[in-house]
Amino acid sequence: MSIEAQLDTRADANWLGLTGARVLIAGAGGIGGACALAYARAGASVAVIDRDQRALDAIGAELGALGSRHELLQADLTEHGSGQRVVAEVVDRLGGLDVMLHAVGINDRRPILEFTEDEWDHILRVNLSSVFGLAQAAGRHMVDQGYGRVLALSSVSGLLAHHSHGPYAASKGGINQLLRVMAREWAASGVTVNALAPGYIETPLTAGELAKPGKRADLESLVPAGRLGTPDELTGPALFLSSRHAGFITGHVMYIDGGRTLV
Ligand SMILES: NC(=O)c1ccc[n+]([C@@H]2O[C@H](COP(=O)([O-])OP(=O)(O)OC[C@H]3O[C@@H](n4cnc5c(N)ncnc54)[C@H](O)[C@@H]3O)[C@@H](O)[C@H]2O)c1
Repeated sequence: MSIEAQLDTRADANWLGLTGARVLIAGAGGIGGACALAYARAGASVAVIDRDQRALDAIGAELGALGSRHELLQADLTEHGSGQRVVAEVVDRLGGLDVMLHAVGINDRRPILEFTEDEWDHILRVNLSSVFGLAQAAGRHMVDQGYGRVLALSSVSGLLAHHSHGPYAASKGGINQLLRVMAREWAASGVTVNALAPGYIETPLTAGELAKPGKRADLESLVPAGRLGTPDELTGPALFLSSRHAGFITGHVMYIDGGRTLV
């Protein structure tokens, strides 16, 4: 079959191999929400986790409109043991777990000299420690079953030295290295581990910053593509790296940034 025919979903509705896959998504916000809908459209059963019940209800309504099998779980991933609890609950409700996508994060844009240790701890706990807790629990299950896909949202800030991004950048650089070690340790068990590293994407996380006068034009001028990204531009990479076509791709940080990291 030609590649065009394989890519035509009418010819092979399950060309990604995700029909019936059990997918856990942490984060019901802009990027996690868009990915939840994309996995559902690909035929997967999706469990979405967030601490914000309103965000869960909103994505639940959209998943319901698609008629997809889905579960919603409210949890604060900064609590010790929450990763293990959430994974056990999702395995129970979906009957297993094949894909885990971590899309939870916060930012606080201030110079490093202004941060207290408590503020540093909080950002690292939300952005980095929650990846450890959730991916370790998902990885334990996937290593045992001999198959799995682990993905987490990093950022161009994990590579570039953006002003006023100290704790955020450190958390994203930490995610990159944590995932690379997980990728190495779990590769022989059929589990791939990769990071998605977006540039500026229009979501609730960036809405406040983009509303500042002149900020949007400043940010766009830094991107060779000349524009910011949309949450939907994360869904194709997430589906591909979760698919049967990506079984030999592990330990990558995939930049989805319109060329931002080229300049
Ligand atoms: N939007 C961007 O420009 C951009 C760029 C690079 C990387 N990212 C990364 O992508 C991921 C998703 O970002 P987004 O733009 O969708 O953000 P978002 O703010 O739209 O969504 C994040 C979600 O995380 C949830 N959350 C926060 N703390 C939590 C906690 N302790 N426990 C459970 N849930 C919690 C929030 O309630 C929210 O629904 C983050 O890791 C972010 O750092 C975003």
